[in-house]
Parts: sequence; structure tokens; C-alpha cells
Amino acid sequence: MNGRRVLLAAMVAGLCAAGAGIVAARHSTASDAGSRSPASLASVPAPAFGALASLAPASRVAAPPAVDAVLARAIAGAGMPAVRTAAVVALGRELFFESRLSGDGSRSCASCHAPGKGFADGEPLSRGYNHAGHFRNTPSLLGLASKSRLMWDGRHAAEDLPEVVVDMIVSPVTMNGDAHIVVERVRQIPRLLHAWQRAWGERAAPTIDGVVAALAAYSASHGNEQGPVDRARQGDVDALSGAAREGMRLFEGKAGCARCHAGAAFTDGRLHRLGVPDNPEILRDPERTISLLRHYAVLGAREPMSVRSDTGAQAWTHRASDRGRFATPSLRGVAYTAPYMHNGTFATLAQVVEFYDRGGGAASELQPLGLDARERDALVAFLEALSPPLAPQSAPPVDDYATTAGAGR
Ligand code: HEC
Ligand code: HEC
Repeated sequence: MNGRRVLLAAMVAGLCAAGAGIVAARHSTASDAGSRSPASLASVPAPAFGALASLAPASRVAAPPAVDAVLARAIAGAGMPAVRTAAVVALGRELFFESRLSGDGSRSCASCHAPGKGFADGEPLSRGYNHAGHFRNTPSLLGLASKSRLMWDGRHAAEDLPEVVVDMIVSPVTMNGDAHIVVERVRQIPRLLHAWQRAWGERAAPTIDGVVAALAAYSASHGNEQGPVDRARQGDVDALSGAAREGMRLFEGKAGCARCHAGAAFTDGRLHRLGVPDNPEILRDPERTISLLRHYAVLGAREPMSVRSDTGAQAWTHRASDRGRFATPSLRGVAYTAPYMHNGTFATLAQVVEFYDRGGGAASELQPLGLDARERDALVAFLEALSPPLAPQSAPPVDDYATTAGAGR
């Protein structure tokens, strides 16, 4: 067991004690990166739940098979049969907006992954638990079900989604929660307990595995609807405006975007070096610097205290050649998720396109593109077309604890 695992194991010890089979540390090696395609995920044997299709407005096309695969995996990971898959997603929604999953009840998943902002937060850098100061941008959760690598630096495979959710709950820079207390709160808050029982059955006692599975299922249920770009990809040329159509041609051709942004969520799941400049705010703000150093220490990096910039995948692969490499993000709903990149360095899509046109930053693997102003605008129009209107997501009402609202009801 290396240093990172020891630390991680200590962090999730409470969860393991609660019988969490799904948090068994499964840290993939660098050579795994990119080797799992969305297609191989979709081939995980899964009953055709179709739960998401039934949640989506009738005008939308059914959810892709990847969503059912994620749901099936999450439910299998919980170690007990679900009563109804849609009810597991509904439980996940209740939990996602529930700030009492965090240590001091101050923040929920939705405080950072805000539904109205494409499940991101609109900030360059995530604020962190009680202003702990995160050193990365909050990623959007749109298209999550079709991704093969998770986190900006790709340190988790898609199969590790439950582990990522556990990390979000217990990490001191996100929610600083405790598994036992989370389970107890689900037991004590009548609204959550009822949602729990609808998902997992009247007699099933709350477990951290069931909480994590429901959160994973809800998190993966967004941005899977087919939009105008999907229809255009299927040959419906009128689905896009003239500019967006021109943008799509450039995206797939001269601009070379589709080399990396491919597949259902427009990502190849691989690590790339674009040379995105550092965000100086990370070193300016001591809380963010500490979060960065802690990240490197937890991952077992050599001399973590001497780190002065976010070196991306190198922190977990421990290979110098991975310095500055990040995983290709999904582009589903990208118009809603500004600012952009792992550190929120670019405020607008136009700035992102200009960056690509220049051939990226220092030590980038990209080449200058030589686009004119009209072509750059067309690419932006295409990226905007990847962002059809978001399905409205309202926060469920807050319910008091059973102790004050009438225990045992
Ligand atoms: C303090 C803000 C914050 C809170 C609260 C938070 N997250 Fe996150 N989340 C982040 C940041 C920042 C990352 C990216 C970390 C990285 O790349 O190193 C992330 C990454 C993720 C990812 C990986 C997404 C991807 O495509 O790679 C998932 C899934 C996720 N969070 C779900 C959740 C869930 C579920 C909760 C609630 C239990 C939650 N998050 C709470 C900030 C937050
Ligand atoms: C060599 C692979 C590669 C190519 C080619 C590529 N991208 Fe990216 N893209 C990435 C990676 C990796 C990131 C994340 C980089 C980071 O955060 O440091 C990214 C990030 C982005 C983002 C920000 C997404 C977000 O949520 O913050 C947008 C928008 C984007 N790319 C659009 C494009 C467009 C448009 C093109 C073509 C002009 C393109 N990409 C070409 C790999 C690539």
C-alpha cells in the first residue's frame, strides 16, 4: 500500500466500516487512461431500465445506453436490489440538494454543481468547503454518463464514480462529511428516509453505499438528451444554423477538435497537454495553495511541498511525461459552464477558441490553426449549439429532523 492509499484508506475508513464494498480503492494505472471507450462502458450487461427516459420530457430522445449502464453499476454497487430505478434517481436528487451531508450542514453538492449553471458553479476556481479554497474549477456534470475518465486530471476511471462521490462527501476541501453521520442524518430526516424507502424498500436500513449509489445515479442523469448537434450528426442538416453548421465542419475538419472531443460526450477520455496557463490566484490565496499541496501529498507525489503549479496527471501517474496533461472534458452544455479549463483561466468560449487558434500555450501538443474571425465565430456557434436548454431542476423543499418534526412518523 503506497502513501496515497494509506491516506485514502484512512479518509474512507468510516465508509468501509459501514460495509462499503464500492469504495474499495481501485486506482487505475496511467496505462488505463483512455483505454475504456464509452462503447465498452455501454456494453456492461445491464437490464434496460429506461429510468431516465421516463424522467425526461416527452419531446426528448431516450437516454443513451451509457446512462443505463451507470445506473446498473451504481445499483449493483449498493449491494441491495432497488425497488424502482427512477426512485433511486429521485433519492439522489434529494441528497444532491441536502446540505446536511456536509460536516457543518453548510453545503450540498448543488452549492458547487449548480443545476442552473450546467452543474458547475460559474467561478474560475471552486470555493471549497467553508472557504477552504479549492485549486480547481468545479467541472460540469453534464454528459457524465458518457465519460470514461473522471476529474480534470483523469485520475479516476468511470467505474470509480462511487469513489468520486465518496471523495466529494468526505474531503475536507469539498464537504468535510462523515459517513456515519451522513447515514444517521438520512435516518433522522423524514423526507430523506421516505425517499430512501421508496428507492430501496420499506425495510432497508440506510447505508452509505445506498446514499452514494443514488448520488452517482442522479449525477449521471444530466445532459444526456439528444440536441440539434446529435440530429445534425445523424444527417439532419437543417438542425443547425448556418454558422453552427460551418462550425461543425471546422470542428471535425480543419480545426481538429474532434481528434480529442469525440464520442457521445465529445471526449476521448485521454490525457493531453494544451499548455493552459496557471491561474495566479492559486498561489495568491494561501488556502488554495494549501489545498493544492494537500492534493499532491495525498497522491503520494515526491516532494509535494515544493509544488508551485498544478501539474495535472503527473500527480497521480508519477511520470514526468504526464506533467501538464489533463483529461479531455465533455463539451455537453459547454455554453452554460464558463469559465473554462481545469483552473477557469478562460472566461468565454471565444477566448478558448482563440487559445486553440494560437496553438495552445507553453509545451502544448497543439499546432496553430490559422483561423479567420468568421471561422472562430463559427466554432463558438457550434459550441453553443451543443448546449440545448437545460431541463429545469428545482431544489426539493427542506425538511427538519425527525427530532423536531415528530420522530417515528
Ligand atoms: C466545494 C465544491 C464541491 C462540492 C460541494 C462538490 N463538488 Fe463535485 N467536484 C468539485 C470539484 C472542484 C471537482 C473536480 C476536482 C478535480 O478535478 O480534482 C469535482 C468533481 C466531481 C465529479 C467528477 C466529474 C467529472 O466529470 O470528472 C463528480 C461526479 C462530482 N464532483 C459529484 C459531486 C457530488 C455528487 C457531490 C455531493 C456529494 C459533489 N460533487 C460536491 C467541487 C465540488
Ligand atoms: C489534443 C486534444 C484536444 C484538441 C485537439 C482539442 N481539445 Fe478542447 N480540450 C482538451 C483538453 C485536455 C481540455 C482540458 C484542458 C485543461 O483543463 O487544462 C480541453 C478543454 C476544452 C474546452 C473547455 C471545456 C470546459 O468545460 O472547461 C473547450 C470549450 C474545448 N476544449 C473546445 C475545443 C475546441 C473548439 C477545439 C478545436 C479548436 C478543441 N477543444 C480541440 C483537449 C483537446
